[in-house]
Amino acid sequence: MAVTMNKNYAKLGKNYLFAEIKNRVASYQAAHPQADIIRLGIGDVTRPLPKIVTEAMAQAAREMATAAGFRGYGAEQGYEFLKEAVRKYYAKRGVSLSCEEIFISDGAKSDIGNLTDLFGQDNTVLIPDPVYPVYVDTNVMNGRQIVFLPADEENGFLPMPGPETVGDIIYLCSPNNPTGAVYNKEQLQKWVDFANARGSIILFDAAYECFIQDDLPHSIYEIPGAETCAIEICSLSKKAGFTGTRCGYTVIPSALKRGGFSLNAMWLRRQSTKYNGTSYVVQRGAQAVFTPDGEKAVEENLRYYRGNARIITQALEEMGVYYTGGRNAPYIWLKCPPSQDSWEFFDRLLSECHVVGTPGAGFGSCGWEYLRLTAFGTRKNTLEAMRRIQNGGVFR
Ligand code: MLT
Repeated sequence: MAVTMNKNYAKLGKNYLFAEIKNRVASYQAAHPQADIIRLGIGDVTRPLPKIVTEAMAQAAREMATAAGFRGYGAEQGYEFLKEAVRKYYAKRGVSLSCEEIFISDGAKSDIGNLTDLFGQDNTVLIPDPVYPVYVDTNVMNGRQIVFLPADEENGFLPMPGPETVGDIIYLCSPNNPTGAVYNKEQLQKWVDFANARGSIILFDAAYECFIQDDLPHSIYEIPGAETCAIEICSLSKKAGFTGTRCGYTVIPSALKRGGFSLNAMWLRRQSTKYNGTSYVVQRGAQAVFTPDGEKAVEENLRYYRGNARIITQALEEMGVYYTGGRNAPYIWLKCPPSQDSWEFFDRLLSECHVVGTPGAGFGSCGWEYLRLTAFGTRKNTLEAMRRIQNGGVFR
């Protein structure tokens, strides 16, 4: 008999959201070679890696060329020097971790997908809608039952658990991709209490924590009780420009146990079996991000992107367009003109303004009347995109 396949793949949309957008933009560009397209769709950074980071990488590469400095297989969970830098980063916020609770990875996306390995197939997964599509797609691949939690204007795009809420594995993303909404301490406390009372696990995606400017939690471990119910996933992609270089980290507290299993021990077992570690050169670059000079360089880039966000939000305000985000997050979630759904508006922006956004429906059915713009473009392109949108009259 021929091999049998994972039929859950048939339940997925044909393409991953950002691959679909890339294809649509490529076909438009092929048909309109003169069009000067500005991409504010996928959240890919445009600022180069800080010099202190590339110098650390170059130094590490030179070390690898010497017999004394050469390194082969590293620890699958990361080098101590980087785990220690991450540990201190958390300590500054009053979060006490041990290095054994920190796992260095090649980015948040892979860890978010791979963490599903730790859980039984029979769990119900609770996912806010709209949200980063990787949560849904990876659980569809595994055939798990998914329950959606609507995030809308009424709840400020921050859904909360209620008496009817079910969910063994709960995904929370704060600052939220795509809406930019951020949970406060009281709201996160309710989620932590809910998860602890129910025996659920929260997968907390903190990839955008560095964009927070207001007094809001950056980490779920700022919330009492989170160490017995939450895993936190974070990334250097947006913070320090590692989208191409790849480095992130996941925190799994030793106190996190379910059904006689330590999730920390399970993840260590999983990573040492299926992953050979992030490269030494990249980890040295990541270590430099956490030095005082690295932090200064990161702050400079964040200021640049926040400036872009202001350009976008000011233009939307002038046009009277409803939006959220942009202040504590690099994403601006705006309402499409009446009677246009998000894919129609995506097509209209592309054809009339040559500007690419991300259709809200790609983040879940609750996003059907919204579109996301990113603040990660260059200043010149951001200004030009908003000029075209304002002059193009697409909101009239
Ligand atoms: C996004 O645009 O939502 C993200 O950049 C995609 C990602 O981080 O994988």
